[in-house]
Amino acid sequence: MKHSTRLNHPPAVKVPEDNRPLVAPVYQSVKFTFDSVAESERQSRGEREGFVYSRVSNPTLRQLELTLAAVQGRDDCLLTASGVAATSMALLALCKQGDHVILFAQMYQPTRYFVRRLLARYGVRHTMLSIDDIDGIERTLADTPTRAMIFESPTNPVLKIADLRRMTAAAKNSGTMTILDNTFAGFHNHGQYDVDVFVHSLTKYASGHGDVMGGAVIANRALIDAMRTDFIVTGATLDPHAAFLIQRGLKTYSLRYERQCQNAQRIAEFLATHPQVRVVHFPGLPSHPGHALAREQMHDFGTIVTIELQGDAAAASRFSESLQLFAISASLGSTESLVQPGQLMRPRDLSTEEKGWAGISDSTIRLSIGIEDCDDLIADLTRALEK
Ligand SMILES: Cc1ncc(COP(=O)(O)O)c(C=O)c1O
Repeated sequence: MKHSTRLNHPPAVKVPEDNRPLVAPVYQSVKFTFDSVAESERQSRGEREGFVYSRVSNPTLRQLELTLAAVQGRDDCLLTASGVAATSMALLALCKQGDHVILFAQMYQPTRYFVRRLLARYGVRHTMLSIDDIDGIERTLADTPTRAMIFESPTNPVLKIADLRRMTAAAKNSGTMTILDNTFAGFHNHGQYDVDVFVHSLTKYASGHGDVMGGAVIANRALIDAMRTDFIVTGATLDPHAAFLIQRGLKTYSLRYERQCQNAQRIAEFLATHPQVRVVHFPGLPSHPGHALAREQMHDFGTIVTIELQGDAAAASRFSESLQLFAISASLGSTESLVQPGQLMRPRDLSTEEKGWAGISDSTIRLSIGIEDCDDLIADLTRALEK
């Protein structure tokens, strides 16, 4: 065999059946082969297991899909290249022309754009509500035939808590699919509610280290199977190496999330007593309007603490810039702490009334709490508040 041939046909290395790697290897291969055409055909007819092409399926992705489905308490999962791809693909796969969708002013801005601008181009109508208007939600579901209701809990950034029991019951009564973007609460939360589809940004807590992007759509098998082809042909799938990194990150997910929650609780309690802080939005504080609901629905209160400072946008900037351990940055859920002032989260697409529901002002500051030593974080916050 000449070099150019050998280099393209490297020797196969067989790992014996009883000699498995402890960590599954990355199947960084686009194509998979069978020994015969007949077996290839049997696989394509669904008569045997196997892999063909990584946009369709890949063993590294499959392991991650099954892990995420198990922790969210559902049967199956589809992976996407980012969180927004998960949300938009779920909506695209479930909705058709003429359908009606309910969404909320408190949602992640690209989700609002996708429903209000993009789906609208394809004849999907929508109603935008406030997540704490449970009577309005029930009324709209009863009055308007609705294909899907998409929502988040806790919401970004002021951490309102959706009433999952009432929302899912009302949706079931009117034959509406519920899609919960569960990124903030995490995979270990909300599985006990009758939610049809969970979407997650894996960019946040799943990978945890801020070095890889991904998304997941998790549901029961029949629904995932019904959506699968739409996902395959739109092609926003995850790369195997990204899936490997996310699978690796998940090993410490529980430890990280627990530590971040403990830090967040202590920081929220500290900030609630500080004279420079007007309001602390954190569902773990008894003063939070959603505290009782969060206690009933969640195992913990999350890792985000949002505050309203005494003062204006300039004070919020000064505070954010004075912090040394909190980086001024978008995103959340990584091991290091982050700060995001309200000026960087202004909901420009919302009407005045909707902006009031969203609750973001120039004095709003979102803190994503990391796994650092909590005393160090509190000392840093103290110094910045004094400035
Ligand atoms: C609640 C929520 N959903 C979805 C996303 C989108 O995730 P990604 O950045 O992975 O596309 C984000 C990102 O911040 C988010 O906060």
